[in-house]
Parts: sequence; C-alpha cells; structure tokens
Amino acid sequence: MPIDQSFLDELTARCDIVDVVSRYVPLKRQGANYFGLCPFHNEKSPSFSVSPDKQFFHCFGCGAGGGVISFIMRAEGLEFRDAVQHLADQCGLVVPEEQRDPRAANRRTRTLALLKDCARFYYDTLWKPENAAVQQYFARRGLTRKTMNRFGLGYAPDSFGATMDAMLAKGYTKDELVDAGLAVRNERGHCYDKFRNRVMFPIIDIRGQVIAFGGRVMDDSKPKYLNSPETFVFHKSRNLFALNLAKKTDRDYFILAEGYMDVIALHQAGFDCAVASLGTSLTEEQARMIARHTKQIIISYDADGAGQAAAQRAIDILKKCDLQVRVLRIPGAKDPDEFIREKGPDAFRRLIERSEGHNAYRLEQIAAKYDLEEDDQRIAFLQDAARLLATFENAVEREVYQGRAAQMAGVTPDAMAQEVKRQTAILRKQRKKVEHREIRSAAQRVQPQDKRLRYEDVHSARAEEGILSLIFADNTWIDRLADKIEPSDFSAPVLAKIFAHARTLWEQGGVVSIAGFEGYLDEGELALLSGILSRPPILTGQEQAMADYIAIIRRCRARRGDTPAGGEDPLLALAKQKAKNVGGQ
Ligand code: UTP
Ligand code: MN
Repeated sequence: MPIDQSFLDELTARCDIVDVVSRYVPLKRQGANYFGLCPFHNEKSPSFSVSPDKQFFHCFGCGAGGGVISFIMRAEGLEFRDAVQHLADQCGLVVPEEQRDPRAANRRTRTLALLKDCARFYYDTLWKPENAAVQQYFARRGLTRKTMNRFGLGYAPDSFGATMDAMLAKGYTKDELVDAGLAVRNERGHCYDKFRNRVMFPIIDIRGQVIAFGGRVMDDSKPKYLNSPETFVFHKSRNLFALNLAKKTDRDYFILAEGYMDVIALHQAGFDCAVASLGTSLTEEQARMIARHTKQIIISYDADGAGQAAAQRAIDILKKCDLQVRVLRIPGAKDPDEFIREKGPDAFRRLIERSEGHNAYRLEQIAAKYDLEEDDQRIAFLQDAARLLATFENAVEREVYQGRAAQMAGVTPDAMAQEVKRQTAILRKQRKKVEHREIRSAAQRVQPQDKRLRYEDVHSARAEEGILSLIFADNTWIDRLADKIEPSDFSAPVLAKIFAHARTLWEQGGVVSIAGFEGYLDEGELALLSGILSRPPILTGQEQAMADYIAIIRRCRARRGDTPAGGEDPLLALAKQKAKNVGGQ
C-alpha cells in the first residue's frame, strides 16, 4: 500500500465522516444513521446513508459507498492520494513523504515525463520544413502561431514507429509507451504508434501536466478524432480541455464548448474562460470542477440537434452544482469556431450578452416544437410547458416562467397555473415510484453493481457476504474462524480479497473497518463492501449463522469441484469427495 496504514488510521480517526459529508449534503439523523440526498445521483427523497459508528457511507439508490476518503475522491473528483492530501490539509496533518511507494511515484513521474517529451516531439515535428502542409492546415483554420504554441499543438508523423523510436531513444521502454496510451500492442505482441498522420492536441491537466492527446485527421477520413485511452494518469471524466488556462481567467463566467477547436478559437478570440469535455458528454465530476472556479457557466454547444440535446443534459448536471447556467444559440454557424471565424469576436460577445437563462432557453425549445397559431397545438404546448415548469424547484422562478408560458400559449395565468399544479402532482408520484423501485432493487440486489465483480456462484457468495458482515460487526470472529475457512474457499475473488485483507489488518493489530480498505479496494469493490455492511446486522444466533455460512460455502465448493488454492490433484479431490458422500455428509 502506498501510504502508511497507521497514518491513514490517524487521518480517518480525525476526520469524522458525518462532519465531512455534512459539508456537501445536509444530513438528518434517523436511528443509528444519518440520511440525506445522494450527491452522486439525482434524487428527491434521501436514500444516502452515513454510519457514524462504522464510518462509512452507502447510497441505497445508486449503490455508491465507501469510507471518508472514497467520499472525498468521488465528491471532489480526486485520486486516492490527492483525497488523502485534501483531508490531511483540513485537519492539519502532514502526509508522510518518505512513506510514498517509490515505485508507484516513479511510474507516475516517468509517464508524465514521457507524455511531455512526446508532446515536445509532436511540436518539433509540426515545425519541420517538410511538414509545411500541416502548418498550413492550422493556418487555414485561422490559428495564429501564438495560439498554437499556447495549446502546444503538434503533428504525429505518418509512420508506425517514428514516435516510438524517438521516445525509445530518450530511454523510455515500449511498455511505458503502451502504458501511457502512445503505442498499441497487437495480438502478436508487436508495438506500433497509436497516433499517425494526425494533428495533435495535448490534453493538459489543471496542474499543467500533459496527460493525454487528441489527434485529428486533416481530411474527411474517420475517425475524425482519436483520443488517448483511459490510463492511470488520464481519466476522461475527471478532466476538462483547457481548464489549466481557463482557471486563470479574469472573467466571472466560463464557457463550455463541445470541441477542442471551439475552445482554441474562443481563447484566440479573447474568451480565455472556455473549456470542453473530452469527447464524452459532460460528467458530474467535470461540473463540480467548473463550479470550483466560477459561479456562472455559458453553454455554447454545436447548433445541430445532437448539440442541443447534449446542452439539455448538461444544464441538468451543471444546475446540480449550483451553477448559474446560461445557454447560447449560434445563428448561421455550426459551432462557435465557425461563428467566430465568419463573424468575429465582437459578434460572439454580443451573443453572450444576449444569451438566455436556461429556463427561458428550455421554454423556447419547447415552443419551437409547436405552431402556436393552432388551437390544438397550443394546448399541447401548454401541457408540455407545464411539465417543464413542474420541475422548477424555485417558486419565484416557476411563477415568472408560468406567466411567460401563459402569454406564449395565449391563455390566462390561472389556466397555466392549474396545469402546472396538475403536472407537479403527476411528477411527484412518478418520482416516488422510481425511487421506491430503486431502493427496493438495491436492497434485493444479489449481484454487485459493478459488472467486473459479478458472482459466479451466487449461493456461495451470499454466505461469503454473510461471513464478512459478521467479521466487521465483531472482529474477534477472525480468530475464531482461523482453522475453519480460508480465502481460497471463497467463490467470489472480490470477497476473498476482502476476507484476506481483513485478516491481514487484524494480524497487524488494527481494527477491521472500512477505513482500512480505502486505497486498497477500488471504487466498485468499496461500493460492494459498503452495500454488504449496510444490511441489517444479525444480532442473535450469530454462531449458528456462521456455521450455516461455512457449511453452504463448503457445499457449493464441492459442487463446483474446485481444488484448494494449493492445487490438489483433481482426481484425488474427486475420490475424497466421493468418500465423504458415502460417509453420509
Ligand atoms: P466536433 O466534431 O464538434 O469537434 O466534436 P471540433 O473540435 O469542432 O472539430 P473540427 O472543428 O471539425 O476540427 C466535438 C468533440 O468530440 C470529440 C472531440 O473531443 C471533439 O473535439 N470527438 C469528435 C471525438 O472524440 N472523436 C470524433 O471522431 C469526433
Ligand atoms: Mn468544429
């Protein structure tokens, strides 16, 4: 483990999970636990629970769960180490430097150095005289040399090995290139450059480090953009293109665009507050990152249907982070880049000034679907608009737009208000139903939510979960189980891993609680564990329950015909099993 466990123990002891979570979500006590609205999915009634005794959180709706460190990882979009640092800063602890695993630190440092060297190589390649045509591509798209340098734009040569050779010459290995997403290894083990004959856009994180690339073809071939895969330094959903620049802006708003080129054109036009997600739709983590730098965001997506649909989704996500959301519409151009090139920065500034709040925008979008001169269409609009208005939480907002919609539909404000009331009731009922269904299905869920962790043998896995649940409730069970059951008896690798680690923690003299598993289990594994631990504990008859669990696990195992982890001869095992069966087991 990279950070010393005793330090983590001290940290988690100082950071009470109820205090930490309360800074993000209002919590109410209910019995032994606290409940609130889950910050990780959209819900109207609380299914997010925090246990002060066991120091973990679990959402019965979306299944998220873990200890205080995992909470910060999710809430702030941080890596494990950064989340630890974040908590340590808050309670005045110093993360022990020398405890850092030198290999892990080294891997990260080397990969970042490689990515930086590679960006340099692409840059140098672009400016070679023989690549004048590539330089002209950028010039044709209206980019100045200064802009290109600010974004570190480059060119990946038209070759399967030139990039790799250049990096190998600098002392990096093929494995490191594959690891960083710069090279691909085929089935025969042969490595080749991932990016070939593409103009290159480095993706830079908030600290200014190159973590990935996007590469564009210069003609109409497909795919238009190729992006680095997810690597251990690059997570698409946790980064934004140009945030390293936008965070320094003097403007009191950010612009959210769709494409790399849009962002670059915006910066060149003086809008140094533009960012974009990285080839996927906006995530909640990205929205939270934006909210840390500004209060107001202007969505400036492509004018086509897909862009407008994406804008609708982005509005919901951004609003959840308490951002003031405005939406820009770009007349007569397909995206901000094209608009600025044709009409200039001043025209774009006027668009910003005229951009509407997201409520007005949505109402307009609905109105555009109907011909409001026709009576029956006006009624359909009225209902459609009322459905939107019913979702407005703020009464004043609802009031204002109710009036506007009534005017658009040519009905009295009263008639509109009635329709909104009706739709609000329908909506409330629907939400209740959905949430009940979610909570029920979470409680009855037999399979882990994370697909990688799916149980092969559900019957055995249930018993294994039961054992873990008893162990966490009473750690002394670990000693009592010493000669009765081994991790290798478990059918589910993830549960075996938890069991084995619990034993290790116990043997090291620690208390076995979820805190000891943070940084050891990944997000999906932790969510699974928090789910197990949030089921009602068995209070009486624990001995019997444990005996039953063990019997079930053994029976299931015999049925599966596994051999112990030591690798017993399968024929011998079969013979033993038969003898046991004859013996009346
Ligand atoms: P766009 O096609 O709108 O990008 O896709 P753009 O920046 O305006 O491209 P130009 O102007 O044609 O050069 C929006 C974003 O979607 C991702 C990229 O992040 C792109 O910037 N994308 C698009 C891909 O990842 N792959 C693709 O094939 C296309
Ligand atoms: Mn474009």
